[in-house]
Order: sequence, then structure tokens, then C-alpha cells
Amino acid sequence: MKIILIGLLVVGTLFGADVVKVSEQFLQSQKCKSCHLPIVKEWEQSWHAKSHYANDEYFRATIDYVSRKTRKSLNGVKVECATCHNPRISVTSTDIDYEIMSVMELDKGSEVSNAIQSDAINEGINCVVCHNIDSIHEERDESVRGIHRIEWTKSGTMTGPYDDAKSPYHKVEHRDFMEKDSDQLCFVCHANDKSHKGLVFTNMQGEYKKSEKGCTDCHMGSQKMGVATTLKIDNGKAKERKIRTHKFAGGHVAGMWKDALNIELSQSGDSVVVTIANPQPHNIPSGFGARELILEISYKSGLKELKNQSISLTNHYTSKRNKPTIPHLAVASTKDASIPANGTKILKVPTEAGATSVEAKLYYRLVNDEVRSLLELKDDIWSQKSFITSQILKLK
Ligand code: HEC
Ligand code: HEC
Ligand code: HEC
Ligand code: HEC
Ligand code: HEC
Repeated sequence: MKIILIGLLVVGTLFGADVVKVSEQFLQSQKCKSCHLPIVKEWEQSWHAKSHYANDEYFRATIDYVSRKTRKSLNGVKVECATCHNPRISVTSTDIDYEIMSVMELDKGSEVSNAIQSDAINEGINCVVCHNIDSIHEERDESVRGIHRIEWTKSGTMTGPYDDAKSPYHKVEHRDFMEKDSDQLCFVCHANDKSHKGLVFTNMQGEYKKSEKGCTDCHMGSQKMGVATTLKIDNGKAKERKIRTHKFAGGHVAGMWKDALNIELSQSGDSVVVTIANPQPHNIPSGFGARELILEISYKSGLKELKNQSISLTNHYTSKRNKPTIPHLAVASTKDASIPANGTKILKVPTEAGATSVEAKLYYRLVNDEVRSLLELKDDIWSQKSFITSQILKLK
């Protein structure tokens, strides 16, 4: 009886986006090293490479929390998040039958549990995610993202920026979204991230201001001359090409924050006016919900500090019962505190009696206090403050 039941349930779990199995010789970045070593090394430092339950504490804690609060199986939640975080997964959605099987602990060896443990996903967003995208369905509703928005190439066909490349190891095809329209590639996942209750807590595509520069210009660096492959394909030498770096440096890289925003101070009667300007084409913070900007203001008389004050710019999320929660479970959020793309935010703070100057320092933090404590995050990186900029104003 049990065996028949399992048979029926397994058939029931398989639906969703089209899956193309990647053969062993392309599956892991290891296989690309012999000819693309510098690129593999750069990518290994990126957070795309860490996008996996085992490698990103914040991601893991969020999955655990969602599973606990919604009583959905851990694997069910993992499959859901895999849409953007682990796109080469072989099962792209689960259903109620799987949930029953999981509660009854009958899911060992099932298709879902094998998919979760497979080597196909433990490198997160690796080479055969971006370079195996054949087409992007721009016509689909904007809420359809990640694996549900794309078609994969046949295993062994790499799409890339060049139109004249040849490789002895794999087929090569040019795509515009690997070159002049690369924002389109990034928006496959960097858009319309929403909670279980349908609250969109980030939408980089919606807020984006078309600019001279694309995502790759700032997050893969400007184009420079180098080699795409170390293989000697150009008369006994490696071929010179225009290339970019694959580090995808962003919010987790403290050095990237220096001067990402500007502040201006002025005095207006008994107030200090702080104008925070964002020259970037997307909001800041953007990306994931619960990121935070911290403005520290210090009032001084000569060198002596009279008073200081810290202002947090972040979004707070609430559950159905109006309790603080994490972005993924939210039904509502406070008014967006981010600095709009190519825009400004103005804050007014009172001056302090006796102060002759005021200094404002601006920092960024990956996770605000509320969410960090709900998830009990341990690693220092989540609470560290990355310095952005500072200004001093002499008071009249
Ligand atoms: C998040 C998406 C993404 C991932 C992951 C990724 N790439 Fe790329 N790759 C790109 C984009 C976009 C370009 C085009 C850059 C440009 O404008 O020249 C590119 C370019 C390349 C090129 C051409 C040379 C160059 O730098 O422009 C090679 C070769 C390449 N990638 C190999 C790899 C390998 C190997 C991996 C895995 C270690 C990998 N890529 C992972 C997006 C990605
Ligand atoms: C035996 C060597 C070899 C191996 C192994 C190899 N490649 Fe390549 N690859 C090449 C060569 C040669 C080119 C062409 C480079 C050029 O024309 O400058 C290339 C080009 C590329 C391009 C750019 C294509 C374009 O049109 O822009 C991508 C992307 C790429 N490889 C991805 C990968 C990935 C991912 C792997 C690992 C799964 C891999 N390669 C493994 C040799 C190799
Ligand atoms: C398949 C989905 C997907 C695609 C396509 C994709 N990303 Fe990402 N990206 C993610 C996810 C998921 C993360 C978060 C990973 C984590 O922190 O565990 C991320 C993180 C990042 C970060 C943050 C890194 C940091 O240090 O904070 C940057 C920057 C980034 N991506 C840039 C890009 C750019 C540029 C492109 C297009 C060339 C791109 N991504 C394409 C899913 C994607
Ligand atoms: C003109 C340069 C520029 C362009 C273009 C740009 N960014 Fe950014 N981005 C930045 C800067 C500066 C930051 C803040 C410092 C950092 O994280 O690198 C940032 C931050 C981010 C972050 C972290 C955000 C946060 O609040 O934690 C992500 C994710 C990101 N960018 C993705 C993208 C994607 C995807 C695109 C294309 C749609 C893009 N960026 C286009 C400059 C740019
Ligand atoms: C629509 C695509 C998409 C889906 C679906 C998605 N994410 Fe993400 N997620 C992203 C992108 C893109 C980023 C990177 C944004 C950034 O760095 O600011 C990200 C970042 C994160 C981060 C921050 C990681 C870090 O290191 O700072 C957490 C946590 C996270 N996601 C959890 C989840 C969970 C849990 C699920 C499933 C319930 C999920 N995500 C589903 C696209 C997605």
C-alpha cells in the first residue's frame, strides 16, 4: 500500500518551468577552470557563488524561518526560493501531495529530495545559469521571474557576448542580453521579489532609471582588454578580447560603499537640513528588503562632542497579526525609506544649544536590528556598518 502511495505522489510533484539536465562535463565551474581559470576565481568570490542553503547564513535562516512559520516543508520552501537562488534545480515546484509525503517522512529518495541534494544547485548561480540562458520571456507578466521567465539552451551550448567565438569544448552562441542588453539578463532575478502574501518588497526593474551605464558597467567593472580564455587559440597565443570581471561586487563588499551616496548639510533657523543624494540608477538601499542606511549626527562645541544621534533609514515589515516579521512573510511594510534612483531624500534635525558645528556620517548595513534578531544571525557581516560618506557644517 505504502509503495503504491509513494508512486502516485511522486508523479504528482512534477510540474513548473521546463528543466534541461546539464551533463556532468559542464555542471560545475570546476570543469571550466582549464580554459577560464581567472573568471572562475573571480566568480568564486561573488555572492552569486554563495547563493545556497549551505553557504549563506541569512538565506538559510530565512528559509528555516519561513518553513517554521508557514508550516510548509523545508524542501518545499527551498524549491520555491530556487526559482532565483538555485536555478538549475530539476524540480521547479512542489504541491500538496509532496507536503503530505514530507509530513509522513516518506520523502527520502523522492524526486524533490534528490533535487535539493543534487550537485546541480550547490554552486548557486554558476556559469551554466547565466551562460545557458537561451531566451528571456519579456512578454510574461512582471511577477514571473527566475526559471519561469527563461528557456535554457541545450546542455553544452554557451551563450555569450561575442559573435565570432569558437571553442573545442562547447558550442558558442551570441546573445544581445549578454552584451548590449545585459540589464535584461540581470532583471530575470533582480526584480519583483515578493513575500508569501504577495507584497513586492523590492522591484529594481520598476524603480530603475535608464542610464548611460548598465548593471554590468558598475557590477562587473568597465570593459578592459584581457583574455576570455587562457587557451592559446590565436596563433599560439591567448586571444586578446574586451572582457569584464566576474566578481559581481555589491552590497556585501564594504569597499563598494565609499561615495555611493552624497550628503549635503545646511542650516535653516534652528534646524540642520540633511540632503542625501543618490546618483545611482536604482534606489539605495534596494536589492533585498531590510537593508539599512544609518545616519550618525554629532553636535560639537570646538572638539568636544555635546550630543550624538543615530537615525535608521530602513523598511519595517509586519505580519497578518501586525507583528514585526521578515520581508518574505510580510503583508505590509512601512513607507519606503530608500533614497530614490537619481533622487534625494531630505531630513531635518534640530540644532543643539551651544554647538558650533555638526558632523553627519552615513553608513550602510546589510540587515536591520529587527530582522537580525528575529533570525538570530550570528556572523559579523550582517551587523557591520560600511562607511559611505561624511560632511561637517559650521553652525551660525
Ligand atoms: C550572473 C550571470 C553570470 C554568471 C554567473 C557568469 N557569467 Fe560569464 N558573463 C556574464 C555577462 C553578462 C558577460 C558579458 C560581459 C560583457 O559585457 O562583456 C559574461 C562574459 C563571459 C565571458 C566572455 C569574457 C568576458 O569577461 O566578457 C566568459 C568566457 C564567461 N563569461 C565565462 C563564465 C564562466 C566560466 C562563469 C562561471 C565561473 C561565468 N561566466 C559566470 C554573466 C555571467
Ligand atoms: C578546453 C577549453 C575550454 C573549456 C574547458 C571551456 N571553454 Fe569556454 N571557451 C573556450 C574557448 C576557446 C572560447 C572562445 C574564446 C574566444 O574566442 O576568445 C570559449 C568561450 C566561452 C564563452 C564566451 C562565448 C561567447 O560567444 O561570448 C563562454 C560564456 C564560455 N566559454 C563558457 C564556458 C563554461 C561555462 C565552461 C565550463 C562549463 C567552459 N566555457 C569550458 C574554451 C573552453
Ligand atoms: C538567476 C538569477 C540571477 C541573475 C540572472 C542575476 N542575479 Fe545577481 N543575484 C541573484 C541572487 C539570488 C543574489 C543573492 C545571492 C546571495 O546573497 O546569496 C544576487 C546577488 C547579486 C549582487 C549582490 C552582491 C553583493 O555583494 O551584495 C549583485 C551586485 C548582483 N547580483 C548583480 C547581478 C548582475 C549585474 C546581473 C546581470 C549580469 C545579475 N546579478 C544576474 C540572482 C541573480
Ligand atoms: C552607475 C552605477 C550602477 C549601475 C548602472 C547599477 N548599480 Fe547597482 N549599485 C551601485 C552602487 C554604487 C551600489 C552601492 C554599493 C554597492 O553595493 O556596490 C549598488 C548596489 C547594488 C546592489 C545592492 C543593493 C542594496 O541595497 O543592498 C544590488 C543588488 C545591485 N546594485 C544590483 C544592480 C543591478 C541588477 C543593476 C542593473 C539593473 C545595477 N545594480 C545597476 C551602482 C550601480
Ligand atoms: C524573484 C527572484 C527571487 C526569489 C523567488 C527569491 N529571491 Fe532571495 N534574492 C533575490 C535577489 C536578486 C537577491 C539579491 C538582492 C541583493 O543582494 O540586494 C536576493 C537576496 C536574498 C537574501 C539576502 C541574502 C544576503 O546574503 O544578503 C535573502 C535572505 C533571500 N534572498 C531569501 C530568499 C528566500 C528565503 C526565498 C524563498 C522564500 C527567496 N529569497 C526567493 C531574488 C529572489
